[in-house]
Amino acid sequence: MNKKLIFTFILLVVHSITYAISLKKRTTTFHSCETFIRLETFNIEISPDPLVSGQIVTFNASGILNNNITNGTIQVSFYNQNASDSFYESNETYIPETLAHTSFTVNTTFTTPDIPTNYTILAFIDSVIERNDSVFLFDIACAQANVGF
Ligand SMILES: *[C@@H]1O[C@H](CO)[C@@H](O)[C@H](O)[C@H]1NC(C)=O
Ligand SMILES: *[C@@H]1O[C@H](CO)[C@@H](O)[C@H](O)[C@H]1NC(C)=O
Ligand SMILES: *[C@@H]1O[C@H](CO)[C@@H](O)[C@H](O)[C@H]1NC(C)=O
Ligand SMILES: *[C@@H]1O[C@H](CO)[C@@H](O)[C@H](O)[C@H]1NC(C)=O
Ligand SMILES: *[C@@H]1O[C@H](CO)[C@@H](O)[C@H](O)[C@H]1NC(C)=O
Ligand SMILES: *[C@@H]1O[C@H](CO)[C@@H](O)[C@H](O)[C@H]1NC(C)=O
Ligand SMILES: *[C@@H]1O[C@H](CO)[C@@H](O)[C@H](O)[C@H]1NC(C)=O
Ligand SMILES: *[C@@H]1O[C@H](CO)[C@@H](O)[C@H](O)[C@H]1NC(C)=O
Repeated sequence: MNKKLIFTFILLVVHSITYAISLKKRTTTFHSCETFIRLETFNIEISPDPLVSGQIVTFNASGILNNNITNGTIQVSFYNQNASDSFYESNETYIPETLAHTSFTVNTTFTTPDIPTNYTILAFIDSVIERNDSVFLFDIACAQANVGF
């Protein structure tokens, strides 16, 4: 091989190693909720990723919603692969008041439950909405991750 070829080869190897590492790093990716498609969604980064049963995990949620977040909370639930049975629900974590169309960020931390090979995570944001002098608590946003399948 001439020098140029070797250089290209090394670049390619470095590139594929970086790619492999970044692929491995993000095993829990969130998207909009499959059975709640009308709800807005938001970003979640978890640490550590992948999750480890029994270890403390931090869910860092952030985003911009079309609804005000008023006395809002975030709650994370773990389900089996078909999202039919939940086997863990985190405590609700308060989200600071946030006007619609402005960004929010909140961390929620808990101990990872015993997780099977395949599982689904759903994270809901609730907010109080005032209508006709009454207050209602609504799910205003949802994020889902399917892990292992
Ligand atoms: C929130 O989570 C992010 C990402 O995991 C982390 O970098 C940050 O330190 C956390 N902030 C707090 C206040 O725990
Ligand atoms: C959000 O709250 C502001 C101020 O209370 C209000 O004017 C606005 O209509 C609300 N927006 C939505 C989308 O509820
Ligand atoms: C938000 O919570 C506070 C304290 O619990 C309460 O006083 C207030 O009425 C709540 N606001 C709404 C809009 O529900
Ligand atoms: C998921 O659903 C499929 C088909 O409905 C079923 O065969 C499978 O056993 C279910 N898996 C779990 C973990 O419930
Ligand atoms: C929720 O909070 C209560 C009171 O702080 C605590 O005793 C309980 O263990 C928490 N539950 C979870 C699932 O973290
Ligand atoms: C969540 O992560 C973002 C980006 O890493 C950071 O800007 C934000 O402060 C974090 N949120 C909290 C509550 O620490
Ligand atoms: C508020 O009142 C209006 C008119 O009475 C009614 O049509 C509407 O359904 C009410 N909204 C809610 C959320 O109850
Ligand atoms: C996990 O999901 C994959 C893909 O659907 C399936 O082939 C595998 O059997 C599942 N594993 C378990 C333990 O349910």
